[in-house]
Amino acid sequence: MEKMPMDLYVPAHIGIIMDGNGRWAKKRGLPRSVGHSYGAKTFKHMTRYISRRGVKFLTLYAFSTENWKRPLSEVNALMKIFRQYLVDSLTNFREDDIKVVFIGDRSAFPEDIIQLINETEEVAKDRKGMQLNIAMNYGGRAEIVHAVQQLCQETKDGLLQPNAVTEEALSQYLYTAGQPDPDLIIRTGGEHRLSNFMLFQAAYAEFYSTETLWPDFGEADFEKALMAFQQRSRRFGGV
Ligand code: IPE
Ligand code: IPE
Ligand code: MG
Repeated sequence: MEKMPMDLYVPAHIGIIMDGNGRWAKKRGLPRSVGHSYGAKTFKHMTRYISRRGVKFLTLYAFSTENWKRPLSEVNALMKIFRQYLVDSLTNFREDDIKVVFIGDRSAFPEDIIQLINETEEVAKDRKGMQLNIAMNYGGRAEIVHAVQQLCQETKDGLLQPNAVTEEALSQYLYTAGQPDPDLIIRTGGEHRLSNFMLFQAAYAEFYSTETLWPDFGEADFEKALMAFQQRSRRFGGV
C-alpha cells in the first residue's frame, strides 16, 4: 500500500494553469511539441495522484481561447496530443473512477476530436470519483459573455426579471455550474497571472505560483503547494 501524506487539509476544488512546456523543451534543445508530449505525461500522472489525494474537483487549463494565435505547426501538434490522450483514456483508463468533463467551446475543434470529447464524457458520466474539468478552448471572458447572453435571452423571453440577474443566476450558466469555486489555483512556469483562467470563479481563490515547469511538476511539488495553501489566511473580505 502506497504511503500518502494525509495530514494536510485538502481543498475541494483546485485549478492548475499548466505552463512551461515550451521552455522545458527549449532548455533541452528540443522542439516545443516534445515539451507538450511530456506535459501530457505529467497530466496523466498528476490527475490520478490528485484524485487519490481526495480532491473533489480539479480543473486543468489545457488550451486557452488565445492559444490559437500560436504557429499552426504548434497548434497541430497540440491537437495530435489531445487526440492521443482522448483515445488513450478511452481505451486504457476505463477503470479510472475520474469523471471527466470538458469546459470551453469545443465546437472550434476538428470533428473527430469533438466526437472523442463527447465519448469520453459519456463513458465517465456515472463515475463517483473526482471530477476533472479539462479546459480546452476555454477563456474566462468568453465564458462570462456566454452566460450573459443566456440571461439576456431569458429576460427577453420574460422568464427572468432584470433584478433576478444575480451572481448565483450567472453562475448557473458558467461551465462550472453547480461546482464549488476553486480554493487554490496553481500556476507552473513561474508567471504570476491568470491568463483568462476562471475569472469569475477565482474571486477568492488562493494563487500559488511555482518556477517548476509543467513537465517537471510532480507529487512533491503538489504537496508543497498544499502546504503553502495551509499557511494562507482566507478572510473572504471579513476580519
Ligand atoms: C503550456 O505551456 C501549454 C499550453 C499553453 C498549451 P507553454 O506552451 O505555454 O510553455 P511556455 O510558456 O512557452 O514555456
Ligand atoms: C496559459 O498559458 C494557458 C494554458 C496553460 C493553457 P499561456 O502560455 O498561454 O499564457 P501566457 O501567454 O503566458 O499568458
Ligand atoms: Mg506559456
